[in-house]
Order: sequence, then structure tokens, then C-alpha cells
Amino acid sequence: MFSTPFVLSFSLLFSLPLLFFFAPQILPPRQVPITLPDEIEDLSLFRRAVFSTISSQPSFSSSLYRLDPSIKLSSPGGVFEGRSIAAKRTQRASATLISAARRLLANAILDDPSNEFFALVSQYCIPLHSFKFLYKSLFSTKNRVKNEHRYRSFIEILSKDPTLWKRYNARGKNVMLPEVSFDSFRVGSQFFVLTKKHALIVIKDRKLWKKFKLPCIKVDSCYPEEHYFPTLLSAEDPEGCSNYTLTRVNWTDSVNGHPHLYKPPEVSPKLIFELRQSNTSFDHMFARKFSPDCLNPLMEIADSVIFKD
Ligand SMILES: *[C@@H]1O[C@H](CO)[C@@H](O)[C@H](O)[C@H]1NC(C)=O
Ligand SMILES: *[C@@H]1O[C@H](CO)[C@@H](O)[C@H](O)[C@H]1NC(C)=O
Ligand SMILES: *[C@@H]1O[C@H](CO)[C@@H](O)[C@H](O)[C@H]1NC(C)=O
Repeated sequence: MFSTPFVLSFSLLFSLPLLFFFAPQILPPRQVPITLPDEIEDLSLFRRAVFSTISSQPSFSSSLYRLDPSIKLSSPGGVFEGRSIAAKRTQRASATLISAARRLLANAILDDPSNEFFALVSQYCIPLHSFKFLYKSLFSTKNRVKNEHRYRSFIEILSKDPTLWKRYNARGKNVMLPEVSFDSFRVGSQFFVLTKKHALIVIKDRKLWKKFKLPCIKVDSCYPEEHYFPTLLSAEDPEGCSNYTLTRVNWTDSVNGHPHLYKPPEVSPKLIFELRQSNTSFDHMFARKFSPDCLNPLMEIADSVIFKD
């Protein structure tokens, strides 16, 4: 499922904190609970991360992370040296995926106070542009918040979706009230690029987390990580969000909520050019999902296509 060379070779070229997100593919019958010790440990991590930013001066630099489920088995090396974060158990359709993303953000903040953007991608994501191109796009004037000297986060935020009502009630009717009204409930992709301001909002939040951490009764309508981040950021700073993601996904012929998985024969320069295209003023920077055996065909076109701007 997880190919280390695949991640390593592509990640080398990035110097944002790339937060690798591991979501299990099989849905076990019972939801993994978030235990009190886990919760306490997370809270202390978030506090340390928030505290670390109080006296630090912003400047721009680089780091790289990996959340490694096999950390007990093998020691990480290469660009990830000292940057692997021991994973806790995660499960689809549970709030554990929110916790995992928040821990990654907190660790990335702690690791280097000069990190200004935080990109969350998975082991199935590939880059579509060079790091330089991504960096320039994030820090371009067209990514400035209107009339302000700050930049926007790239996070999908949608308020209209036919399944929204069901998803809102996945934990039971009126359970989300009063903290989260249906009018404020949003949906979007969990693959985002957040500014530091927004990363801090996410790890400081207690109010929405109290509701989103509750287990779902209706597991088939339960996608906490697709709701928590868009709902929180749309409430806290709508003007600071692009409302779309930079990660392209192909939902054609999706099965059980899983998008199209690209295989080696599909990899071509044409595909890369096609996936870059978007309906916004920014190209897509990442794409998913690519099977690990796409590594070789992707490497063959890495210099001549993917990282050539
Ligand atoms: C994102 O959506 C919110 C709410 O609709 C809106 O206020 C905000 O201006 C949008 N952001 C951009 C960059 O258009
Ligand atoms: C999306 O996936 C479908 C198969 O499910 C494929 O036929 C199509 O070419 C893909 N689109 C792109 C842009 O890769
Ligand atoms: C752009 O918008 C058109 C029309 O809504 C849609 O058919 C197309 O899939 C969109 N392209 C991308 C890359 O999202």
C-alpha cells in the first residue's frame, strides 16, 4: 500500500511541510474511539505548538514530514530523518482522521517556526509542478486576501451538496447544535494547503472539535475530516480561504467513495497537462490517486514534464 521510494523521490523536491496522511482503506465494523490519554496527549502537543509561535519571527523555509504507521518496524531515513511522527490508529468514518491531521499540523509548526504554509497530501498524491512553481503561486500577489497583506489558504469549502443534511445528522439529530448549525456546516476535500494563521486556528479549536469528535451513528454518512476543516475555517475566516483545493481528483466511476486510481499505463505527459488544468486562476499542484507502481513511469517524465514549468 505504501511505497517509501515513491514518497521519498517526489517529496525531495518540496520544501513545504508536506504532511502525509494515512487513511486505512477497509472499514471495520466498530469505530476507533479517541481515548482520554490520546486526547490529553494531543492537547499538550497543540499547546506546545501554539506556544512555540508566540515569540517566533516569520521567514520562509522548509521541512518535510511523514506520518508513518510502520514506525515501530523500521527507522526512517533520507529526507524524513528525524521527521517521522509516530502514528496513532486511524480509521475511515471516524474523527481519528481529524486528529491525525491536527497532529501533523502541530508537529510541522513545532519543527520549524518559519514554516508559513502547510500542505496535506497522502501517499497516493503526486506533484504536478515543481516546488518552485508551487511556492511562487502560494506567495503570489494574486493569492493575497483582498486589501490585506496576507495570503489565502487553499481549502475546498462547499455549502451545497445533496448529501449535506444526512452528513450533518450522522451523529444523531440536533447533536451538532448549538456549536454547529446546519447553515454553517460545510464540506470539502481534506487535502488542503493552509496558511500558518489557519493551521493555528485548527489546532487551537476546542468548540467544534467537541462535536466533530463524537462517534457517528450512521457510518455511511460519516466523513468527519471532509467537514471539520471547511466548517471551522469558513466560520473563522471565510475571506482568507480560496474555497477550492489544489489537489485534483477524478471521481468518474468512483466505487464506495474511492476516486479513480491511476495505473502505470495511464501515466503520460498528456495526463499531467490535463490534470494541471483547473477552472480557477491557479493550476492544480497535486493529483490523486496514483497506485505505487506508477513510480517508474512518473520518474521517467519527472524532469522533462512534471518539474518543468
Ligand atoms: C469563499 O467563500 C466565502 C463564503 O461564501 C466568501 O465570503 C469568500 O469571499 C470566498 N473566498 C474567495 C477568495 O472568493
Ligand atoms: C478519469 O477516470 C476515468 C475512468 O474512471 C478515465 O476514463 C478518465 O480518462 C479520467 N480522466 C482524467 C482527466 O484523467
Ligand atoms: C471546469 O468546469 C466545467 C464546467 O462546469 C466542468 O465540466 C469541468 O470538469 C471543470 N474542470 C475542472 C478541471 O474542474
